[in-house]
Amino acid sequence: MARTRIRSGGNPLNLTAALWDSVFLRACRGERTPYTPVWLMRQAGRYMPEYRAVRERHGFLDLCKRPELCAEVTVHARNWLGVDAAIIFSDILVVLEALGLPLRYDTGDGPVLGRPLRDAAAVAALRAPDDAVAALAFVEEAIRQTVRALPAGIPLIGFCGAPFTLASYAIEGGGSRQFTATKSFMYHQPVAWAQLMARLVDTLIPYLNRQIAAGATAVQIFDSWVGALTRADYRTFVAAHLARLVDGVTAGVPVIVFGTGTSHLLADFAATGCDVVGIDSTTDLGEGWSRCGGAANVAVQGNLDPCLLLAPRERLLAEARSVLAASLGRPGHVFNLGHGVFKDTDPAQAKALVEFVQGYRHPMVD
Ligand code: CP3
Repeated sequence: MARTRIRSGGNPLNLTAALWDSVFLRACRGERTPYTPVWLMRQAGRYMPEYRAVRERHGFLDLCKRPELCAEVTVHARNWLGVDAAIIFSDILVVLEALGLPLRYDTGDGPVLGRPLRDAAAVAALRAPDDAVAALAFVEEAIRQTVRALPAGIPLIGFCGAPFTLASYAIEGGGSRQFTATKSFMYHQPVAWAQLMARLVDTLIPYLNRQIAAGATAVQIFDSWVGALTRADYRTFVAAHLARLVDGVTAGVPVIVFGTGTSHLLADFAATGCDVVGIDSTTDLGEGWSRCGGAANVAVQGNLDPCLLLAPRERLLAEARSVLAASLGRPGHVFNLGHGVFKDTDPAQAKALVEFVQGYRHPMVD
């Protein structure tokens, strides 16, 4: 049984009216909003001089583990851009470290998992979910401090990596292009693979729910790389685990599922019972929405190519207009990029995009 979307429920967490009626949460529930809400994946990051200044003094993981700095970075990005939601500053990979895998971020090379996970014994040796979640208390504390500092009507998005994407980092030992080690593991050791997926989901459910208890009012599950699977493999090796994760999230809190290169998986994403499906830039937003069953079924988030932030202003805004128009004014569109902001982005471009989206009105809608 898939999760029941929150559009059919009330306000079980008793959120303040300012939060419950925020444009972002309304759009997640598929309700009509005065304008299309917008936030940007990686809105707090290296393209921002204030973030770089904090990073000069702290390593990335060190920053992730200092709640007061996470709160500062999160709130600064939200307030400077004027976006309709904040996302807690953290990283999907801290969960792997909490499960016992050594993690470091080498400058330039991205994340490195020093002891790649390659067999059933390594899966069995992962730390217990309860212990892993307890080790992630710094994320909850960051959320508490962030919520206190945010304006009253601005929701905070909590997040985690999805089981496939986390497993890919654990098995490859870092980022990957072809995911050969991950797929070999999956094909040759299906039992260990299922145990790994189960261990991750058993950890991620309480992790997300503790983020919610700490004040997150929506959650996003990043399955960034699951688009590398065929639909058949997705259904065999991933679908049930992702659906269990979505289903485990506290009722009343919108769940966004996002991945890249997933045009063949969008209907399956919608079938998890999530409230919002993230659409990347390679799929037309309207077409992607139809694949998900349309506005009557689920909300969508996306999908401007982040590279357009590097284009001349006129082109950026023209393409943003196309993305907005692709929704045809149907309720349930959260504007975002198709993937995260690149580090060579001019922050002024990001801000101009946000203002444009918030000022846009659909010509066909009264
Ligand atoms: O969106 C936000 O503003 C919230 C913060 C956030 C970060 N990572 C901060 C970060 C979020 C939501 C993530 C998620 C994340 N992390 C994903 C899924 C989203 C996606 O991009 O597909 C993935 C795959 C990761 C893993 C990860 N973390 C990679 C591959 C890298 C290195 C690549 C890069 O851009 O440097 C990171 C590091 C990272 N996570 C940085 C930030 C701001 C840069 C680190 C630095 O400051 O040097």
